[in-house]
Amino acid sequence: MMNSYKLFRFFSRLITIGLCSGFLANSALSHGADLSDKKIVIAHRGASGYLPEHTIAAKAMAYAMGADYVEQDLVMTRDDRIIVLHDHHLDQVTNVRDVFPDRARKDGKYYVIDFTLAELEKLSVIERFEVSDGQHTPVFKDRFPLEESKFKIHTFEEEIELVQGLNKSMGRDIGIYPEIKSADFHRQEGKDISRAVLKILKAYGYTKKTDKIYLQSFEPPELKRIHDDLLPEMGMDIKLVQLLWPADDGEWIKKKGSIKEIAEYADGIGPKMSMIISEESVVGNIQTTGLVSRAHAAGLVVHPYTFRVENTEIPAYAENYTDLLHIFLFQFGVDGVFTDFTDRTVDFLKSSSK
Ligand code: G3P
Ligand code: CA
Repeated sequence: MMNSYKLFRFFSRLITIGLCSGFLANSALSHGADLSDKKIVIAHRGASGYLPEHTIAAKAMAYAMGADYVEQDLVMTRDDRIIVLHDHHLDQVTNVRDVFPDRARKDGKYYVIDFTLAELEKLSVIERFEVSDGQHTPVFKDRFPLEESKFKIHTFEEEIELVQGLNKSMGRDIGIYPEIKSADFHRQEGKDISRAVLKILKAYGYTKKTDKIYLQSFEPPELKRIHDDLLPEMGMDIKLVQLLWPADDGEWIKKKGSIKEIAEYADGIGPKMSMIISEESVVGNIQTTGLVSRAHAAGLVVHPYTFRVENTEIPAYAENYTDLLHIFLFQFGVDGVFTDFTDRTVDFLKSSSK
């Protein structure tokens, strides 16, 4: 059964699709057509193009740049606290090897769940790096320098307080976009991360569809559990987004009925860019998978990831970052984007609306 919010989105999409079906069918739209409600800019891990991801500094910067939503990836500590970090291990964004040299598991990794919050607070958060032969190499060489990185891990509550505090002091009302990471891994470790996250959301007033929050997960069974069991049990009904990863979901999502299945429990999808535009596309010959129009027809919003300005991150079919945004937001009509570069994306949308 669709609730009233879903019905509203469903009919607004139907009207949009009805008006635009002629050229949606071709998926080769003229530049400049804005077919949807307000497009949203989601600050992916904060202003992570400029400051180490998921630090409070990166979140404050993204806020100041004009993000509509700030993203939090969430994992759980040994003492059941929820912290904001992309992975359930610490290896690529902290100095854990230096501070706790003997706390790695047999696979050589340092797991958040093996540390208390007090221990994690002793670490420095560092610009993301790869380790090879004991050497640290930044993933993005022109971003914040590794050697200058001395930021701290913080809790989900601290980040919500930052966003809500800035909403008050800046007179704005931006949202949060938390992702429950590795629910299955947490369960195997005896932790129910989803329940713990929902408890925090409820305490901070995020309880209804109209609240400024999207809750996301890559795990369909977990998102269904949140929708079917946890939200009703906790008296909550917030917007849910099913993330999609090509290796896991790429073939399944092409099948008839897959989108309808998602629409039964979620309000939107978060696909990788390549699930919307084929990577074989070139400038002037863009091949769409049709995912956006299928999702819109089912009443789902579409928020693809991850938009970055570095040359290595611009697909062959786009001339540059602005062109890439134009293609996704206005040619193919996605409803928002996850970006490391909130400033460039906000500027693009402002100039497009003139
Ligand atoms: O959550 C959507 C976006 O963040 C892409 O996933 O791997 O960066 O958390 P990831
Ligand atoms: Ca994420």
